[in-house]
Amino acid sequence: MGEGIGDYTKNIVDLRRHMWGAGVEVELRRLIWQIAVVGKYISAKIHEANRKQAGFKNIYGEEQLSLDRGADDILKNQLQFSGFVRQYASEEQDDIIKIGSGSEKYIVTADPLDGSSLVDTNLAIGTIIGIHKESVFDTGKKTMAAALYITYGPLITMVYSAGCGAHEFVLNREGEYVLAQENIRLKEKGSIFSPGGLRRDWVPQHLKFIENLEKEGYKLRYSGGFVPDINQVLIKKGGLFTYPALQKSPNGKLRLLFELQPMAFIMEQAGGRATDGRKDIMTIKVEKLDQCSPIYIGSSTEVQMAEQFLS
Ligand code: AHG
Ligand code: MN
Ligand code: MN
Repeated sequence: MGEGIGDYTKNIVDLRRHMWGAGVEVELRRLIWQIAVVGKYISAKIHEANRKQAGFKNIYGEEQLSLDRGADDILKNQLQFSGFVRQYASEEQDDIIKIGSGSEKYIVTADPLDGSSLVDTNLAIGTIIGIHKESVFDTGKKTMAAALYITYGPLITMVYSAGCGAHEFVLNREGEYVLAQENIRLKEKGSIFSPGGLRRDWVPQHLKFIENLEKEGYKLRYSGGFVPDINQVLIKKGGLFTYPALQKSPNGKLRLLFELQPMAFIMEQAGGRATDGRKDIMTIKVEKLDQCSPIYIGSSTEVQMAEQFLS
């Protein structure tokens, strides 16, 4: 066998071994491992999906595919018996759900399936998880202990951070998450940009910022799936993703608790940054579950450039 993940003559580091070596506290590493396992079940569900719509709407009024609900059920049911989770907050639920006995250490937030409208196009989709110590109605800085996301693409990959770097794992054919990249570090400056929303709905400062990136030769890379779009910036070690304020929705589209803070946590751990244009995403206080925020996330040069244009 050649180089890399399939080469068992090399020293394989799987997820559990990595977290143990990285000194992640025992309950947290068991929880992260269990969530990574849930990713395998969600992936199986995606494979068998019949893509029939379930016939009801979620609280955001978007049409909800049966797949979103399926992924949410799998997560909730597994976390219920994890022994480490006292509350579950999901984009697919109207309220925070109490699970476990109530004395467990963590609260888990989930976007069980991000980008589910892309399933029929065979583009990558994902799962985004935040792990909180305290109430989620605070700043991410204060309450988040860890975050992870899983990308369901040609490969299933998982990136986690428990506060000591961001690390990428690939699910191999044996069903193990094996280390692909340890301590991912973004460069100061990248060369790609991923801009959400319609150009005609952008505010003038944002339009000027994007025009500047175009002028500087940044390459457009937008799939419409938050997870693969962010993953691209991280794995290419630089660049910028933005979903900005729009004329009619000044808070943009993406959700602070379920989508933005987990990704900001990971990006910062990789040496990148995330702001809403003025404030660091991790310092914004979550007041309600479906709170949205504009976001500029990626390498420091591009995020700083965004701040200059927006100030
Ligand atoms: P979700 O499927 O969880 O509702 O999220 C969809 C999101 C995200 O994946 C992506 O960045 C954004 O919607 C794309 O929005 P546009 O279609 O407006 O580009
Ligand atoms: Mn989403
Ligand atoms: Mn979703």
